[in-house]
Order: sequence, then structure tokens, then C-alpha cells
Amino acid sequence: MSEYILEIKHVSKYFHGLVAINDLSMKVKKGQIYGIIGPNGAGKTTLFNCITGIYTPEEGQILWKGKEIKGTTPFKIAELGILRTFQTIRLFAEMSVAENIMSGRHIKSKQKWYNGIIHTPAYYKDEKENWEKVGELMDFFNLSEYATIPAGDLSYGIQRRIEMARALAAEPELLILDEPAAGLNENETLELTQTILKIQAMGVTIMMIEHDMEMVMSLTEYITVINFGARISAGLPAFVQDDPVVVEAYIGSDEEDEHE
Ligand SMILES: Nc1ncnc2c1ncn2[C@@H]1O[C@H](COP(=O)(O)OP(=O)(O)O)[C@@H](O)[C@H]1O
Ligand SMILES: [Mg+2]
Repeated sequence: MSEYILEIKHVSKYFHGLVAINDLSMKVKKGQIYGIIGPNGAGKTTLFNCITGIYTPEEGQILWKGKEIKGTTPFKIAELGILRTFQTIRLFAEMSVAENIMSGRHIKSKQKWYNGIIHTPAYYKDEKENWEKVGELMDFFNLSEYATIPAGDLSYGIQRRIEMARALAAEPELLILDEPAAGLNENETLELTQTILKIQAMGVTIMMIEHDMEMVMSLTEYITVINFGARISAGLPAFVQDDPVVVEAYIGSDEEDEHE
């Protein structure tokens, strides 16, 4: 098998005839932290939506471990081991922190749906294991003290951690993070950086969109820069950072003002 766990090949996606992703290609190595950057509206989230099955691109291929996954449903893609967080947090606001994380666990669950109704011994064994895993994740993300609190009652920074815990509950091989540091303060961002490194150390491959350049530069091993849906630069963080084409794209979009 190829050393690349995910390959995007000449993918294009249109909305109402307008191109949102334009002939985009990239390869993500297993175990890597891969960065996607670019001005607002560049098509970064759309790319993640194509990978996770929310959109089906009109052109190109998306290969997961060498097999085409384009057109696969989001649920099936999660089952294959690709999990994500959203740019705008999506949690069950009324459900407790523990229940939210458990909802991620159920993607992984081996149980048939009817075992949940007739409560077989296998069901109880699985549920016990699932709650243990939820407990471990709450420890890992410092969420234990909030276990029974509805997610919607907690601060933004805590909700971000819950969302990541829920994605990890499904034991992903690839974790896709859409602006994980957005809205976080400096301390929370530093904590998140450490957390992402720990997740990588568990063997999880990570793809992230992020505007916080300090974070992107310190974490990622390779970066693709997108503007108007197309790749304008790619390479090691140090190269991309100084690439005049990239600097130009950000100045042209006033992005620096917005995110300083
Ligand atoms: N569901 C949609 N319908 C129509 N246009 C969309 C849709 N989603 C995204 N777009 C458009 O695609 C472009 C890229 O958006 P997006 O991927 O959200 O950018 P980014 O995440 O880089 O800020 C934008 O012009 C946006 O308006
Ligand atoms: Mg976006």
C-alpha cells in the first residue's frame, strides 16, 4: 500500500456553476499533521465537506487507503475511520457532555440495533466498554468535572474540547479539524496545540484548517495553500510562510486584519 493514507486527485466542486474547488490535488501521509490554509472563502471547508461525504465533487478522485470514497455517505465515511470537527460547533446542546461523547462512540459500536432494544448480554458488555472509553476521553480532555452538564451550558472553549472528544470516541485514523483554535484564548490555544500533538502520538493522522499561523507553523509537517478553490502553494511550513504568492493572497484578502 502507498504511504499516503488520503489522496485527493484533481478534485473540482461547483456551486450553481461557480467553481468552489478547482482541480485540487494533495496527498496526506499516514501519521502526519497536514495543514490547509488560505483566505476566507477559499474553499477550505468545502474541501473537508468533500472528503467527509457531505458534498460529492463533480470531478476528480478521493482515495482513502487507495480506494475511491467519492460519493460515499458521511456515516459510512465515519465508519471507515475519517472523523471531523466543524468550523461552527455542532453538539447536542441539551445532552450532557458524557452523552455527547458517547454519541461519537456509537459510530464505532459493533452492536446490531436490536440488541439495544432487547438488551442482550453482549449489549451490556459493549455499553460498559463504551462508557469506559468515554471516561478515558473525559480525562484526556479535562472534561470529567462537567460530565453530567448539558453541553450547551458550557463555555465555547470547553465545547470545542467536547467536539474533539466526540470525534476521537469513534477511534478515527484520520481526524479532520476545521479551525480548531477559532475563538480560543491564548492559553486555550497552547493547550490545544499540546492536545493535537498527543493525538498524533496515538497514531492518528490529522488534517487541519487553521488561521492561527503560529499554531499552524509549529504543528504541521506539510501545508497546502488554497485561494479561489485552487492550490497556490504547497510545501514545508517555512517555505509556504515566505512564498510571495501566499503573502500576496493574504494581503489581497485583508485576512491579516481580520485575524490579528
Ligand atoms: N452549500 C453551498 N452552496 C453554495 N455555495 C457554497 C456552499 N458552501 C460553500 N460555498 C461557497 O464556496 C466558496 C468556498 O467556501 P468555504 O469552503 O466555506 O471557504 P473557506 O472555508 O475557505 O472559508 C465560497 O464562495 C462559498 O460561498
Ligand atoms: Mg471554512
